[in-house]
Amino acid sequence: MDYKILDENVKIPVFGIGTWGIGGGMVRDTTNDEEDISAIKAAMELGITHIDTAEMYGDGHCEELVGIAIRDFDRETLFITTKVLPEHLRYNDVIKAAERSLRRLKTDYIDLYLIHGPNPNIPIEETMKAMYYLVEQKMAKFIGVSNFGVEHIKEALKYIKNKIVANQIEYNLLARNRGSFTNDMESDIIPYCEGNDILVIAYAPLAKGGLTKPGYKILDNIARKYNKTQAQIALNWLISQKNVVVIPKSTNIEHLKENLGAVGWRLKQEDIDRLNNEF
Ligand SMILES: NC(=O)c1ccc[n+]([C@@H]2O[C@H](COP(=O)([O-])OP(=O)(O)OC[C@H]3O[C@@H](n4cnc5c(N)ncnc54)[C@H](OP(=O)(O)O)[C@@H]3O)[C@@H](O)[C@H]2O)c1
Repeated sequence: MDYKILDENVKIPVFGIGTWGIGGGMVRDTTNDEEDISAIKAAMELGITHIDTAEMYGDGHCEELVGIAIRDFDRETLFITTKVLPEHLRYNDVIKAAERSLRRLKTDYIDLYLIHGPNPNIPIEETMKAMYYLVEQKMAKFIGVSNFGVEHIKEALKYIKNKIVANQIEYNLLARNRGSFTNDMESDIIPYCEGNDILVIAYAPLAKGGLTKPGYKILDNIARKYNKTQAQIALNWLISQKNVVVIPKSTNIEHLKENLGAVGWRLKQEDIDRLNNEF
């Protein structure tokens, strides 16, 4: 596995596993529990140690399944990210949400706790104070945000003593300058994050599966040139950027292996430029 710097002496794998859809979408679904637990375990057995989840996923059930999957692994070797819903950003609600997540994950700390998205109806000051409390209480090692634009981050930074280490945003070859909640990624958020030591965690790095098949000429050509798949090129393009790591979701072992093949090598600069300029 390759790593990037999260904070001074702490590294984060360039490749983690997403879990949206595991344990349900917006509501709890237990029909695939066994397959889902096996898939998360298989990912860890392949050496994937960063698991990205959220209290939102399956209305908490996803965290429960992650909690079951990780129990046979050494917790210290894992990096667990989870997120608090924008509806839970009042001071006490943040703390209660984190306590529930810890119970479901059956762990006593979260590596990275993210605000899932901004909530214009709740002053960010109280949210950030609660996030700081979680770090002080060692319930979270690091805190970050998701779907935050530059102005949101600047506002949040006013009220926090410790660092915002990451911003998780939608970013892939098909979504480069149109954030769903945010302003432009490549011209705005990513340079700002890089300049302020905030790691970008690219969600939907495969455009929800849209970048895994032939059909985009440049991607197809570059895939052929490197004898890689479209998914591997799309992910490598992301992690070739200084400040970006990826969390593709897959519960299919063959897809997991394929996606992991995006790590450990590097596109030539001329091909990165082609994707940057022509895709
Ligand atoms: N912070 C936020 O607001 C936010 C929003 C969205 C997502 N996220 C996080 O980011 C993670 C990744 O995003 P995502 O799940 O939306 O999209 P994604 O990772 O871009 O794509 C996942 C989809 O692609 C399929 N897939 C993966 N690898 C494949 C391959 N090699 N060949 C063919 N199909 C493949 C998966 O199906 P299979 O399982 O069948 O392989 C799944 O349907 C999420 O799971 C979640 O943890 C965060």
